[in-house]
Amino acid sequence: MSKNYKIAVVNGDGIGEEIVPAGISVIEAVAKKYGFSISKENFSWGAGHYLKHGEFMPENGIETLKSFDAIYFGAVGLPEVDDTLPAKDYTFKVRTDLEQYVNYRPVKLFAGIESPLRDKTENDIDFVIIRENNEGEFVQNGKILYPDTPNGVAVDTSMVTRLGVERIAHYAFKLARKRRRKLTNVTKSNTLIYSLGFWDHVMEEVSKEYPDVAYSKMYVDNASASFVLRPEVFDVIVTTNMIGDILSDLGGAIMGSLGLGGSGNINPENDYPSMFEPIHGSAPDIAGQNIANPIGQIWSAAIMLEHLGEIEAANDIMKGINATTAKGDLTKDLKGSATTTEIAQSVIDSILTLEKANAIG
Ligand code: NAI
Ligand code: MG
Repeated sequence: MSKNYKIAVVNGDGIGEEIVPAGISVIEAVAKKYGFSISKENFSWGAGHYLKHGEFMPENGIETLKSFDAIYFGAVGLPEVDDTLPAKDYTFKVRTDLEQYVNYRPVKLFAGIESPLRDKTENDIDFVIIRENNEGEFVQNGKILYPDTPNGVAVDTSMVTRLGVERIAHYAFKLARKRRRKLTNVTKSNTLIYSLGFWDHVMEEVSKEYPDVAYSKMYVDNASASFVLRPEVFDVIVTTNMIGDILSDLGGAIMGSLGLGGSGNINPENDYPSMFEPIHGSAPDIAGQNIANPIGQIWSAAIMLEHLGEIEAANDIMKGINATTAKGDLTKDLKGSATTTEIAQSVIDSILTLEKANAIG
């Protein structure tokens, strides 16, 4: 009996219009190969929608999304729209309203890509950033008073809860168990002594339940330097919302391009659909030219299919990406000349030449 998955597709703005269809073409190819199907519905939400309708998504947008198995998303934001809105009115809204409290962001050097880190190989760059996705510095709880006067005041509050730290900690420790059993907790608790001191305290408590995982703490300033000088020390990193946001762009950079990073905003309990998107934004500076790198978006499709239980299809996508980069099929950001659509086609061609993996049993 073939399975069908209901996918909400949100291209968003800028290069989202190009890389999401590229990713969909790859999903359709693996679906056909492994005998499952997807029913997709497109939602033209984002900054473009805001220009036309005065909102990033309709009022019942979140309710609409709840009826899907997953959300496949590009990025939102346009230069002509107030840039305080995309996160508040779309990205963070979906992540929090659908309790996608895990932001899973793998970092890995693909074959044939030269990392800007001269001496590092595929064995050295292979780790996962687990970013807390609902709390921390990004809860957007604050106030601005009298901004244009000498008495101007602005406050942002960072929020850390026991429940929030415990659940992200358990997710990260369990993931480490499936990998190289090493977890690095990255914070700045020597200076944010209350909120991140508490984060560390709870993390430490949870670590006692995982004596088989090597647990350590590192401050984000040292972690940034270590991403560049010795990325091989990392296996799983667990960190806060803002630190994870910043470190994952650095992760993209050491892979060779921001355009390579895929991610999942995951609700591990499956109470709500999870959302899969590249780590980068809508890149308006290169939009509309068919030159954007679609690999981060395609990788996000693999993470989505893995989440839905289509493990063989997800593995095939990863092999397809690796074969594509190994062949030297690269977009401009990686000093190649292939187009967005050519990269997607190259991944599909590689997938179709791979032998079909058989589920055991
Ligand atoms: P960005 O990630 O869109 O772009 C940064 C740089 O990386 C640009 O030079 C861009 O051309 C390049 N780049 C990004 N993705 C690429 C790809 N796939 N292939 C080749 N090059 C790529 O970040 P930026 O410029 O800070 O933000 C642009 C807009 O995106 C803003 O409106 C911002 O708010 C929004 N944004 C949205 C996000 C989301 O929807 N999740 C996340 C980050 C930013
Ligand atoms: Mg970011």
